[in-house]
Amino acid sequence: MKIFLDTANIEEIKKAVETGLIDGVTTNPSLLSQEASDPISHIKEIVRIVNGPVSVEVTATNKAEMITQAKYISEISPHIIVKIPITEEGIKATWELSKNNIKVNVTLIFSASQALVAMKAGAYYISPFIGRIDDISSDGLKLIEEIVQIKRNYGFTSEILAASIRNPLHFIQASKLGADIVTLPPKVFWQLFKHPLTDIGLKKFLDDWNSKFKNGIGR
Ligand code: G3P
Repeated sequence: MKIFLDTANIEEIKKAVETGLIDGVTTNPSLLSQEASDPISHIKEIVRIVNGPVSVEVTATNKAEMITQAKYISEISPHIIVKIPITEEGIKATWELSKNNIKVNVTLIFSASQALVAMKAGAYYISPFIGRIDDISSDGLKLIEEIVQIKRNYGFTSEILAASIRNPLHFIQASKLGADIVTLPPKVFWQLFKHPLTDIGLKKFLDDWNSKFKNGIGR
């Protein structure tokens, strides 16, 4: 189970990387537009901090320009994974890029059929958006279940990257269903550590210690 951080915020990435739990980062045009004045140098900075896969999305919508942008982005670092939206042009570009050993993360996946064609086109990652499906009163996790089954049935090698995660329950359920990677917004990442009984338990331990002993251990 790999954990990615779904943000382009440098401070959030640095803070989370310190835990040793972060295997990579996913960005998208919206996230980069919130954080970067110069997107390319911003991406280079993220790659320096993470030292793992960093997904960066093309902004072109036709195959030829997607491929041109993908080549440009992938030259930034061997860690770059090029994000391509699941459209007819995107699938053609994915197939072409994958044949040329450029790793593609096919994004904006909302159905099992989209996932299947992306895997068949050679996607390195596929990104189903769980939260946005839930937002329209459908079941995002059901999609993960279907994709995991299709991947197993045919031995596709694409990794399933559960995205658009809204809460720790999404994270746990996606992990139980067999997603290979879950990408978390920083807020959800930090929520993984929290439990009110931990806070209460720790306070009691420290209060009991401090009521009896003057110093901490080793002082
Ligand atoms: O990075 C893609 C995806 O995770 C976006 O999530 O929260 O905008 O639906 P969200």
